[in-house]
Amino acid sequence: MSQSTDSGSRGSFSGRIGFVLAVAGSAVGLGNIWRFPYLAAKYGGGTFLLVYLILLVTFGFALIMAEITIGRKTRLSPIGAYKYFCQEGKHTGIMLGGWINAIVPMIILPYYCVIGGWVIKYLIGYLSGQGPAVAEDGYFGSFISSSWEAPAYFMVFFACTSFIVLKGVDAGVERASRLMMPLLLLLGLCVAIYSMTRPGASEGIYYYLVPDFSHFSIMTVVAACGQLFFSLSIAMGILITYGSYMKKDVDAEQATSQIEIVDTLVAMLAGFMIIPAVFAFSGADAAEHLNAGPSLMFITIPKVFASMGMGSVIGFAFFLMVFFAALTSSVSILEACVSTVADETHWSRTKCILVMSAEAVVIGVPCALGFGPLGFIQLAGMSILDMLDFLSCSVLMPIAAIATCFLVTRVIGLKEMSEEIKRSSAFKREAVFRLCITWLAPAILIIILVSSIGSALGLIKI
Ligand code: PHE
Repeated sequence: MSQSTDSGSRGSFSGRIGFVLAVAGSAVGLGNIWRFPYLAAKYGGGTFLLVYLILLVTFGFALIMAEITIGRKTRLSPIGAYKYFCQEGKHTGIMLGGWINAIVPMIILPYYCVIGGWVIKYLIGYLSGQGPAVAEDGYFGSFISSSWEAPAYFMVFFACTSFIVLKGVDAGVERASRLMMPLLLLLGLCVAIYSMTRPGASEGIYYYLVPDFSHFSIMTVVAACGQLFFSLSIAMGILITYGSYMKKDVDAEQATSQIEIVDTLVAMLAGFMIIPAVFAFSGADAAEHLNAGPSLMFITIPKVFASMGMGSVIGFAFFLMVFFAALTSSVSILEACVSTVADETHWSRTKCILVMSAEAVVIGVPCALGFGPLGFIQLAGMSILDMLDFLSCSVLMPIAAIATCFLVTRVIGLKEMSEEIKRSSAFKREAVFRLCITWLAPAILIIILVSSIGSALGLIKI
């Protein structure tokens, strides 16, 4: 986000394309390349994909439209936007939702940067010519369980993020990532085709594309919904902030569709790179690897590169592009945290960055150590990183999203919302929007919230 929220006059994106590119830069990141494939692998392949796509075009669409429009109308960041509509004392519950929107990025930032650190470790591994070693079975495990490596790489990734936000050089990073993003897509496409044509991969393609409803459980919906939020940066105030920089005459509906398409294409591509490769390269251990969770990409992708000619060069190029995609996202997460703190406290930008950096380090270091020295800290079988991820995506984001639905239907009013959207777009999916925001989204979100809390308490099996 190159515009700063604390400037007196609010900047704006040049037009729809500028807006779509900026949001896509924030949205496309580790969520698509790292998180989506491991969840799809774990929660039933084709079944997960189908549920994800249904959620995307229904209430994903409705929530994105709602957040962008709220931002565009109020020209404020999340807490301010909620305050703008709600009356003191009357809408306390909904106002709380505004606060949760603002807190979520603060929880995501530390563990996002831990994964960013893993990416740097692999980048350096390929750069120093250790391609074959990187692909060996114990490589990832010994890396994350060592006492200093994971926190050190986390600190490097976090330092890059905060340096960019501090120096305000994110315009340069955005330019670099605009170049990297098409390259990532192109390279991703080549790697996916290579993965899919390996012997044994067809079973993986089948698993990934064809729904098998025996794999369906309520946790498929919980995971798909959390992923939708994480990947599209919904329910964390980010889209409200981006909306506040959007010009009034830009077609928000068309922009939303384009963002959804780009983000989903990248995620699906990552699935095609990784899931068939699990079947092709892990043989008898495939079932175990499908359940690998956060480590899946780091274990599977190097095996693909190791089996290729020029694998080290391709591995380096791949992780470099993932690094840039992750960095544009982490910059936007830190930027969102900083703008909230600045709006609420009126501290200087530098002071806000320092405070958020301290928070990220205090949470991020234990999180990085959670697979090694702090591995004994577990809750319901979850490591510290998994716990933070679960807390943000499966508990807090559904609450924030419910608050947004209520803000639209009970405070702003559907009629006014529709009128606001129709100022700039034909609003072809108005019926979907109304149905989702009034009934479908709150109902599904409440079910999700109850199930995820139930699963954490051991009442439902994940
Ligand atoms: N959506 C980003 C991704 O998929 C992550 C992100 C989260 C970005 C929160 C901004 C805010 O990687």
